[in-house]
Amino acid sequence: MGRRETILACGGAGFIGSHACVVLLLKGYDVIVLDNFANARRDVLKHISKICGRKPHLIQGDIRNRACMHDVFANYRIDAVMHFAGLKSVSESVSLPWLYYDINVHGTLNLLTAMREAEVFRLIYSSSCTVYGNAEHMPLTEDCARGFTSPYGHTKLVVEDILHEFAKADTRWAISCLRYFNPLGAHKSGTIGERQLGTPSNLMPLIVQVAAGERDFLRVYGNDYPTADGTAVRDYIHVMDLVEGHLAALVYIQENEGWHAVNLGRGKGTSVLQLIGTFETAVNRSVPWEFAPRRFGDIPVCWADPTLASRLYGWAAHRSLEQMCLDAWHWQCSYLP
Ligand code: WQD
Repeated sequence: MGRRETILACGGAGFIGSHACVVLLLKGYDVIVLDNFANARRDVLKHISKICGRKPHLIQGDIRNRACMHDVFANYRIDAVMHFAGLKSVSESVSLPWLYYDINVHGTLNLLTAMREAEVFRLIYSSSCTVYGNAEHMPLTEDCARGFTSPYGHTKLVVEDILHEFAKADTRWAISCLRYFNPLGAHKSGTIGERQLGTPSNLMPLIVQVAAGERDFLRVYGNDYPTADGTAVRDYIHVMDLVEGHLAALVYIQENEGWHAVNLGRGKGTSVLQLIGTFETAVNRSVPWEFAPRRFGDIPVCWADPTLASRLYGWAAHRSLEQMCLDAWHWQCSYLP
């Protein structure tokens, strides 16, 4: 039995990162979680260990800390990195751009410097469908024009370009930029999930809070979009499908150098009202809602063409919207604030 490969999960205590740790540990990888716990809680590590029967190793640290990142690679033999660490609120980035560029761009450059010094060249990067900006034509393929409508989206686009230049300058780099669409749901155990510290801005956590009676009603932002029911359309994907896509990408970059970008979505568009209706039926709870004005920075429609992920990785999302709703609700019911 060869040595287990060790994966460094930057931001591994967060929503996507913690679910990725579960699939990595269950697949037989060793995992080191680096997290500053700015948007995650320590008990996530305990739940990951309980699900997997194995512990990830924890390092509390910040990717912006040069010395910390150097020490991580000096003290541990790391085979590849999954980089989840960063801020992701579109609206917050508009009011705090300096914070978003510092963490999402400067922090990533710090990580890349430490990787290069340690000669670790395999990287899976959490990119986003926001790099497509205000795209007109759907579904989105990886060669669609990119753009940005917020500092958050700009940081994702800038880091993709930085990684591309690194890979062009040094062929040892093997980099996969995974463009997430809208991750929903939680692990079936209900012990890890999307736990926004503070008030959530994403749709599903708010639907769940209204259904649980923690909020009186949901605001539906905009009813005049050019869609079937006038509400905005997104490509919702189960977080477990998303992280299984990360596993497939990790296998791919073990054999393939260079830079590439891949959409991780279901390839189906769902409107806000359709998601509310699906949730109410699946969970058998009502979600009172009212129309409100459009939210600044929102785009009307966004969904993926997931063909490239299927061709390169042999991966496709398979969990249904109903399953996303049931797992998100299960997580809410088991989550002690
Ligand atoms: C979805 C839809 C809202 C709240 C997110 C992440 C972003 C990126 C893509 C990873 C929109 C509507 C929401 C509410 C509503 N992910 N809405 N009432 O904006 O697509 O972006 O996914 O990179 O980082 O933030 O997701 O869940 O905020 O909104 O009507 O109370 O729900 O207008 O149409 P979004 P979201």
